Amino acid sequence: MSRGAILVSCAELPTGDGDDDAVVPALESLGFSVSWAPWDSSVDFSSADAVILRATWDYPERRAEFLSWCESVPALYNPAAVIRWNTDKSYLAELLDAGVAVVPTVLVPPGDAARFPSSDFVVKPSVGAGSRGAAKFAGGADATSHVEALHAEGHTALIQPYQSSVDTSGELALVYLGGIYSHAFSKGAMLGSTMDDSGLYLSESLAAASPSPDAIALAEDVLDAASALLGILRAELLYARVDLVRGADGKPLLLELELTEPSLGFRQTDPAAAMRFASAVRQQLA
Ligand SMILES: Nc1ncnc2c1ncn2[C@@H]1O[C@H](COP(=O)(O)OP(=O)(O)O)[C@@H](O)[C@H]1O
Ligand SMILES: [Mg+2]
Repeated sequence: MSRGAILVSCAELPTGDGDDDAVVPALESLGFSVSWAPWDSSVDFSSADAVILRATWDYPERRAEFLSWCESVPALYNPAAVIRWNTDKSYLAELLDAGVAVVPTVLVPPGDAARFPSSDFVVKPSVGAGSRGAAKFAGGADATSHVEALHAEGHTALIQPYQSSVDTSGELALVYLGGIYSHAFSKGAMLGSTMDDSGLYLSESLAAASPSPDAIALAEDVLDAASALLGILRAELLYARVDLVRGADGKPLLLELELTEPSLGFRQTDPAAAMRFASAVRQQLA
C-alpha cells in the first residue's frame, strides 16, 4: 500500500536544511512516497496521507496566514490546534501555572511598559523561531527600544533572566516521537552567534548528548502538562522537542517546547532514529 507523505518547508529552503535527509529513505522503506513542498506553494496538501511540518521557518512574520493554511490541511502533523498553541511562547506561562519548572518569564503585550531585571536578561518575541528578534542585555540596561521594536511588529515581548549555563553547557534538546523519548542533543549558546546564509536562523553548534535522569523527568512533566492543556494524548504528538537549560541552582528548566517544526537532530544521533520517526508516522495513520 503506497501512501503519500509531504515534508513541509519554506520557499527559501525548499528541502529543509539537511536535518531530515535520513527521514526520506526511512519513510520510503515503510511504504511512503515522499516529497518536499513549501507550505505556501500551490501543491495539493489535502490528498496526502501525512503532511509533516519540518522547515516552515518563515511563519513568524506570517503567523495568521500560516495558521489558516494549517487549518486547511486535513492530515497535518502536528495538528493545527497544537500548532496554534505552540507558535506563541505565551504557552510558557500556562505551563508555569500547571506547575512545570519553566525559565522565569514575563510577558509584555503591546501597550504595556516593561520593567527590566537587574541581572542579565533576554528580550525576545513571543512569536519567533531561529533566535530571530532575541537579544541579550546586561543587568540594569534599558531595553525599551527593543521591546518597542517588537511591539511595532505586533509581537508580545518576552523577558527572561539570562541563563548563563547556556554559555558553559548549552541547551539540551530532548526529542520525543509519538510521545515516547527517542534521543537528545545539545546546542551551544545562540545569542552572539552568526546568522545562517539563508538569514532564517542563527547557525547552531549541535552534538549528541545523553540526558541525566532529572532532565528526562522534567521533559516527561512538560509533555504530560502540554498534552493535558491541549486535551490530547501524548501519542498524538508525532514529534516534540523539549529544550532545557540549567538554572543557577543547577536544576533543569524549560526554555522552549517545540511542537511546530523543530530540527530533530537526526544527524547528531543514531541512524535508527530516522526509522523511529517513520514508524511514528505509521502509528499516527494506523
Ligand atoms: N533566558 C535565556 N537565557 C539564555 N539564553 C537564552 C534565553 N532565552 C533565549 N536564549 C538563547 O536564544 C536562543 C533562542 O531562544 P528560544 O527561546 O529558544 O527561541 P527560538 O528558538 O524559538 O528562537 C536560545 O537557543 C538561547 O541560546
Ligand atoms: Mg529555541
